[in-house]
Amino acid sequence: MRYVTLTQIFKHRIAQKYLLRSGLAHAIACAYHAFKLAKQRNVSVDLATKAALLHDMGHYTWYQNGKWDYDLYRQNDIHAIKGAERAHKLLIRLGENPLYAKDIAFAILFHTDSYIKDSFIKRTPLQEITKLADEMDEEKDGLHHYRKIDHDKALKMIERLDLMVEKEMELQDDAR
Ligand SMILES: [Fe+2]
Repeated sequence: MRYVTLTQIFKHRIAQKYLLRSGLAHAIACAYHAFKLAKQRNVSVDLATKAALLHDMGHYTWYQNGKWDYDLYRQNDIHAIKGAERAHKLLIRLGENPLYAKDIAFAILFHTDSYIKDSFIKRTPLQEITKLADEMDEEKDGLHHYRKIDHDKALKMIERLDLMVEKEMELQDDAR
């Protein structure tokens, strides 16, 4: 059963604020990659698309004298931790199943190794998909965070992905 749609998440003001900050085009591209990966690996397309859409919502800006300071960012970044927390709060507010909200939050927490040594993490399939989906859309020097998409096009892509998720969930249910 699906408790919350991607469209509901996308329209929420909290998601709008943080998805725009870290790159809406990147978030949507990752959600599409996650859909494909989840389908191939028989993982929940509902959870995988949500985790990928929200994976970077913990980013904040590291400006020094009006310019992005990458050294400062690398030293201090905890966007995966913040993102997990923000996504969890948003999902619960929208009425997500608490078990799903927890799984999505952990997938966001472990989507990157930038703050933790890889050897410490043994990822679940959902967590692995979230990491891969992010890497599939990565560009050099973090340029993927700056790719633009207009709001109407973004909304259409999210609505289309919702339909794909619902259709795939029916197929996954039938196969069980
Ligand atoms: Fe990302």
